[in-house]
Amino acid sequence: MNFLTVIAVAVCILAPSAYCESSAVEWCYHNPLCSDSTWPTIAALYCNGTRQSPINIVSASATEDGNLTEFTFEGYNSKSALDIIENTGDTVKVTLNTGVKISGGGLSESYDSLQFHLHWGNGTADPGSEHTVDGKRFPMELHIVNSKSTYGRNTTLAVKDSEGLAALGFLIEELTGVDDQPASWKTLTSYLSNISIAGKNITIQGDISLDDLLSGVNRTNYYRYLGSLTTPLCNEAVVWTVFKEPIKVSKNLIDLFSSSVYIKNSTSLMVHVYRNTQPSQPVSTQPRASSSTKSGYSLALMTFALIMARY
Ligand SMILES: *[C@@H]1O[C@H](CO)[C@@H](O)[C@H](O)[C@H]1NC(C)=O
Ligand SMILES: *[C@@H]1O[C@H](CO)[C@@H](O)[C@H](O)[C@H]1NC(C)=O
Ligand SMILES: *[C@@H]1O[C@H](CO)[C@@H](O)[C@H](O)[C@H]1NC(C)=O
Ligand SMILES: *[C@@H]1O[C@H](CO)[C@@H](O)[C@H](O)[C@H]1NC(C)=O
Ligand SMILES: *[C@@H]1O[C@H](CO)[C@@H](O)[C@H](O)[C@H]1NC(C)=O
Ligand SMILES: *[C@@H]1O[C@H](CO)[C@@H](O)[C@H](O)[C@H]1NC(C)=O
Ligand SMILES: *[C@@H]1O[C@H](CO)[C@@H](O)[C@H](O)[C@H]1NC(C)=O
Ligand SMILES: *[C@@H]1O[C@H](CO)[C@@H](O)[C@H](O)[C@H]1NC(C)=O
Ligand SMILES: [Zn+2]
Repeated sequence: MNFLTVIAVAVCILAPSAYCESSAVEWCYHNPLCSDSTWPTIAALYCNGTRQSPINIVSASATEDGNLTEFTFEGYNSKSALDIIENTGDTVKVTLNTGVKISGGGLSESYDSLQFHLHWGNGTADPGSEHTVDGKRFPMELHIVNSKSTYGRNTTLAVKDSEGLAALGFLIEELTGVDDQPASWKTLTSYLSNISIAGKNITIQGDISLDDLLSGVNRTNYYRYLGSLTTPLCNEAVVWTVFKEPIKVSKNLIDLFSSSVYIKNSTSLMVHVYRNTQPSQPVSTQPRASSSTKSGYSLALMTFALIMARY
């Protein structure tokens, strides 16, 4: 999750200046002096913590939790939910208008959806999702950042709560055999040429909804764990949801991210914008099948085994 520099600066005021100068301004993905291997040192307070994100999710180790019910999405079908698309110098970020919210999903209360942004590698050939599943890295990952509604969109307050933020992670996989699909991603990526330079932004023209961008994903099935922001200051304030089904986007549109936008103060294209995986955390998911189905199944198997044993 790429977060507002504002947070780094805000937390900075409360921290010793040496720590501050480095963590507030100097982190990056590319330069060995500020790339992710340095974050535990240059932003030690949180980036060197014990519940850091992203992680590799081991599907077979996810425990079953019946509390992980369906989400309710509010404003996700609205074509006016997306406000401004911006090249932050580290990612492409879309801010959302007020009135976009999530609840349910095993969360303790409703959360306001504030923005989404993306992580990628270098085209489909060089994948760059942040979370990996059973060791597999996907071409891209989309993060929707949500803040507990009681904090009224104030992220300075939200990062002080160990569950103040809820991040929704969507893995992005190549949709093979077609170009320019889905239409919603064709539209989203059409804005990239307007924000090739870091710091540039442009208003989205009311032509796509969040549901359009997330189409094809069954949002009933997901992994859940407690983690952190994936960029400094890496605050351990995030309830993570990683959906099991990926969004499918054609190769030509995925490739546009690594060939259209430039990083800050540089003539380098924005590539490899993801943090490496961190030590594993307990992960939960929906119960795989009802217990009655399961015992029915094992009873059938046992009967079969008994019958077979007679021969
Ligand atoms: C990071 O945490 C580990 C274990 O808690 C500690 O040994 C190490 O000194 C810390 N590193 C920094 C740079 O603070
Ligand atoms: C489900 O939620 C209840 C109530 O919050 C809690 O007591 C219980 O431990 C949760 N179950 C799991 C598996 O986390
Ligand atoms: C990204 O991929 C392109 C070709 O697809 C290649 O020319 C370029 O060197 C790669 N950049 C990096 C930083 O790996
Ligand atoms: C967020 O809350 C903090 C602490 O109460 C306050 O200092 C700050 O001004 C608030 N920020 C905004 C944007 O309201
Ligand atoms: C955005 O880019 C497109 C083509 O790349 C161009 O036609 C359009 O005028 C640009 N819009 C703005 C507001 O610069
Ligand atoms: C968008 O760019 C304009 C012009 O550079 C700038 O004044 C404004 O603050 C930017 N807005 C956002 C949300 O980045
Ligand atoms: C989504 O998945 C759930 C649980 O696996 C299933 O019951 C439901 O039918 C699926 N919905 C769609 C639209 O496929
Ligand atoms: C990047 O450039 C801006 C001005 O465009 C400057 O204010 C900033 O200090 C530069 N940052 C770095 C890390 O060089
Ligand atoms: Zn992110």
